[in-house]
This record gives sequence, C-alpha cells and structure tokens, in this order.
Amino acid sequence: MIKVNDKHLITKIDYKAYENKVNKIHKMIDEKSGPGNDYLGWEKYPTNFDKEEFNSIIKYAKYVQKNFDILVVCGIGGSYLGARAVIEAINGLHNDHKPEIIFLGQTFSSDYLHEVIAHIKNKNFAVNVISKSGTTTETSISFRILKTMLEKKLGKEGAKKAIFATTDKEKGALRTLANKEGYVTFNLPKDIGGRYSVFTAVGLFPIACAGINIEALMEGAKQSQKDCSKSSLKTNPAYKYAVIRDYFYKKGKSAEMFITYEPRLVQLGEWFKQLFGESEGKEGKGLLPVSATFSTDLHSLGQFIQEGSKILLETTLFIKNPNHDVLIPNDKNNLDELNYLTGKSLGFVNEKAFQGTLKAHEEVGKNPNIVLEVEKLDEFALGYIMYFFMKTCAMSAYLLKVNPFNQPGVEVYKKNMFHLLGKKGY
Ligand code: PA5
Repeated sequence: MIKVNDKHLITKIDYKAYENKVNKIHKMIDEKSGPGNDYLGWEKYPTNFDKEEFNSIIKYAKYVQKNFDILVVCGIGGSYLGARAVIEAINGLHNDHKPEIIFLGQTFSSDYLHEVIAHIKNKNFAVNVISKSGTTTETSISFRILKTMLEKKLGKEGAKKAIFATTDKEKGALRTLANKEGYVTFNLPKDIGGRYSVFTAVGLFPIACAGINIEALMEGAKQSQKDCSKSSLKTNPAYKYAVIRDYFYKKGKSAEMFITYEPRLVQLGEWFKQLFGESEGKEGKGLLPVSATFSTDLHSLGQFIQEGSKILLETTLFIKNPNHDVLIPNDKNNLDELNYLTGKSLGFVNEKAFQGTLKAHEEVGKNPNIVLEVEKLDEFALGYIMYFFMKTCAMSAYLLKVNPFNQPGVEVYKKNMFHLLGKKGY
C-alpha cells in the first residue's frame, strides 16, 4: 500500500546498525512497557474496536444526513484534525455534500465565530462536540454558544436531538454534562490520546456524517496495523521511515517538510504536524514538522528549499494515480505556447513536476528526500496511511527516548492564559 522509497536520501543508511534498537522498541510497544504505555490503545484498535459502537455511529450518521443541512464539529487538536483531514482528502475542497461540515471550537477568534454563527443561524444544524477532557476552553466556549442557540431555537428537547457528544467513557466535564442533558454520546477509550484517535468515534462520527465509507477506512487501518506490526525493520514500512527520520535528525537536520501534490491533502499535513510535533517535540529534541503543497508552495517556499539553510529533511507523499484526470485542450493560435502539452493530462504534468522537483532538491539542493508512494487515494488508502504515520511516530519518539503520548508543554500557555483571564486557582 505504501512504499518507503529511500533512493533519494543522498547518503546510504546503515539499517543494520538500527536493528537491535528497533527490535527492543518493538518489544516495548508490544508489551506496553515503555513510557506512556497506558496510551497504547490505538495500536490494536483497527482490529479490536467496539463493533457495537461502530454500528451506532453509522446509524446516527444516517440520522444526521437525513435530518440536518449542517453538522458543526466542535473540537480542537486531536479532537479535530483527523476528521477534518479525512473529510477534505475524500470529499475535496468544493462540493455540494449534505450535510455541510463546519469546524468550530478550534479557535478563540470572535470574527471566525461570528462568521460561523451568521452562516448557520437560520439553517437546520446539528452539533458534534468532541473533547476527551471536556474542559478544553476553545471547545467549551464554542459549544456553550451553539447549545444556547439550539435551545433557543428548538427548546431543550429539540436541542437534545441535535447534539452528539464524543468524550471519555466515564469521566470529565463533558461526560457529566452529556449524561445530565441526555445527549447521544460516543466514547473515546481511556487508553487512546487525542492525536491517535482518528479511528475512534472522535474521527469516525463526523467522517461518516460526511458520507465517507468508514468501513473501508477501518479496513485500510487494519491492513496497516498488520503490515506495521512486523518486528523486522526490513519488512515494516513504519519502522523504516522512523529510522530514516531518526538518522537525519541525528545528522543535524532540524525540520521535516511533509509534502504532497494535492490541495485536498493540506489538512492531512496539519494532522501530520500535530501528530509528530506533540509526540516528539520535548526535552529539547525533535524534528520540527512543517508542511507544504507542491507545486503551489514551490512558488513561495521553493527558493528556500532549493538554496536556503540546509535544515530540511523532505518527505513527499505522492499519489501516483489521480482519481480524476483532466486533458489539456488544443488552441490553434497557441499564444500561451502550451500546444506542446495538447492531449496530455494534468496528472501527467503533476507527476513531471514531482520528478523534476525531486531531482532539483536532491541533486542540486542536496536535501535528503524520502518518497512515500501510494497508488491511489481512497478511504482504504487513507486509513492505511494514517495508521502508518501513527506507528512511525511511536517508533520515532521512542528512538528519541521521549514519551510519544504526553504533551506537558501545552499546559504552559494555558496556565498563563487562565491567570490573565482570572480563572480561580491560577
Ligand atoms: O493530542 C492531544 O491529546 C491533544 O491535542 C488534544 O486532542 C487536544 O488538546 C484536545 O483535548 P480534548 O479532547 O481534551 O478537548
């Protein structure tokens, strides 16, 4: 499903030197004996997920599709990015799908909130509030506003039928609120953290509401689980990718640029940045994850990548076959001088842009380039790719000797903000 092509790294990696380390970490993940081991529930989740809840997700997604024009998904970080990444990757950026999916709860921007409220207020909308802790301020404020709007419009009973809460199975402020109000709820297992939760109801409910085939997504994740649970570095694509990342980090690279050639994968880049940034960036270590879409960003960042400071490891996820291709027409006057491309497809041009860029960045720019090759983009492939990144991330973080599953640094800004906002105890 995914080929980790290491032919463009400039240097040859001595994988043998990594074998022992990788084996030990593999055992550590398998036996749940490493740091953060109580957050490894995602690792076998594609095979052991709760089938009953899965069916309930499908049932309620159909209900939302039938009864509402808009679904507002209210969450942040791991309670937001996975669903958005999948929905945009599969449904694209411009479509007439019903319900329209809108994301809120990921910002304090009053202009954004105002914009969303103005857009939904006279429409028939439902809300899926997602928070594991139930106390995330961005999400809680937005949800309070949405809940108030719905109760005013539909009454308490009506609002209840339009609100779906995804949260911890047992504890937290949102669990208490949802139980008290009688909302339909979905569970986030306690051993799965936000950024590893896309295959739980956190991701699956909004994704299913968007009309996407979540069975195929889970099948892809399941296949990936199988392939990425092999202990050998030679046959496990996630471990191979993790080793390459580690090698170049230790050789002095400080940033990894995640590149795609598809605008519909911009949000996958956002998800990638959170996954690796929050998992690895601690104790003064880690590659800074950044993302770019080519060829678009070759006209903005291309100069830096080619000739700027040599800090980058480039990782390109290249989809070999577009789902839809477009042919370039002939023009008898040829004033734009494009007739040499007459009859060629845009997919062909995109591929040549990729090959030309790879050669330029590798041979002239001297940046190591990893290419992750995927035949085509669909639900199955996306499930495969996302699980592959999660497993890579766990191996990578353990190679750096950091806990992949906590994020202590995120609390620092919150403490200052709560103090400035006058929250009790800060
Ligand atoms: O990956 C994580 O754990 C975080 O990014 C959380 O998902 C994010 O902070 C949102 O937390 P919560 O789901 O508790 O609102």
